[in-house]
Amino acid sequence: MPATFTKSALLLSLLLGLGQAQAASHAEPNVVAAAHGIPHPAVIAHRGASFDAPESTAASYRLARDLGADYLEMDLQRSKDGVLFALHDNNLQRTTDVATKFPDRKDSPANAFTMAELKTLDAGSWYNAKYPDRARPSYVGLKILTLDEIIDIAQANAQHKPGLYIETKEPQLFPGIEHDLKEKLQDRGWLSPAGSKLAKSALGVGQGKGKVILQTFEKNSLELLQKEMPQVPKILLLWVGEGGMDAKSKVTFAESGEKDKNAYYGKQEPKSEAEFKQWIDYAKAQGAIGTGPSAKLTHGGDQSYSDLVQPWMNKYTHDQGLLVHVYTVDEPVDFEKVMAAGVDGIFTNRASELLKFYKRPAAASVDQLLKNNGY
Ligand code: G3P
Ligand code: CA
Repeated sequence: MPATFTKSALLLSLLLGLGQAQAASHAEPNVVAAAHGIPHPAVIAHRGASFDAPESTAASYRLARDLGADYLEMDLQRSKDGVLFALHDNNLQRTTDVATKFPDRKDSPANAFTMAELKTLDAGSWYNAKYPDRARPSYVGLKILTLDEIIDIAQANAQHKPGLYIETKEPQLFPGIEHDLKEKLQDRGWLSPAGSKLAKSALGVGQGKGKVILQTFEKNSLELLQKEMPQVPKILLLWVGEGGMDAKSKVTFAESGEKDKNAYYGKQEPKSEAEFKQWIDYAKAQGAIGTGPSAKLTHGGDQSYSDLVQPWMNKYTHDQGLLVHVYTVDEPVDFEKVMAAGVDGIFTNRASELLKFYKRPAAASVDQLLKNNGY
């Protein structure tokens, strides 16, 4: 069920429209979300439905869309010849056959390749090898996608229109990417004018003013995004460690004796309450409408990091009038935990499971939806 827009949401929207953001600072999070056209709680399909299909490919994004996810999440990069595309890692080794196709350049960053070169890569077979129980022959040969192609996917289901949740990934590698993104979104009609109508709940968030959310870990990129697209909701991603909040402990992973890096991350905490609050205050001052903190997962794993969704943290963030979208949570035990702690939306690789948890199950199974799309 999409966001509910109450009278108070409309009032808050009017207040925001009048530039009286201060008046909104003590509103309930669901009211704040509705005023921005953002479902509450939000289902953010992390690299698409990437548990069930190779991340950031057409199979993954089509499935997330057809399941009914609110947002298609992506990590934005720019090719050597200036095309915006989605890829998480800095290089192509983990998720493509670059080592076979371009053995001499296998360690090169993805932005050292033209889009034509990137399009020669197989971005699906790695998944079949890593997850044989979820493998499909049709995943072989899936391509890296441009932003244009992901927009096409987001627009293509007549019954459900997800929004786009776009991260500027390692933005220091891509000077001017914030401007390029603005131009692309503008060209494609994805920049709603300020004060436009709230999301049309019948078709999904992609129809309304919350159709795009911009996200970044980098303070500098947040400032550039705000300058380029002041009217678009923005999220500052939070992290403890290099480039993020100062950690309480100075012990490095190597010194820690931990076997697994994520176990180490899970024990990291912000240096102080003041350190945490400074980041929230900064996000608000730079025009962000919320934060994207990490989570410590019950069963660990490579997405388990510092617990930055403790109830006091979420309360402080809400008290500043900001929303909390936590990354990246895939299991019901953790859905329960982070929702109880007060988050307003979840990045997940398992959109099907999160939708069930929120009592918004998809009309068909993952298998059926994949088959419907020819996978
Ligand atoms: O963008 C939110 C979450 O995706 C951050 O982590 O490394 O998966 O981009 P990452
Ligand atoms: Ca991301």
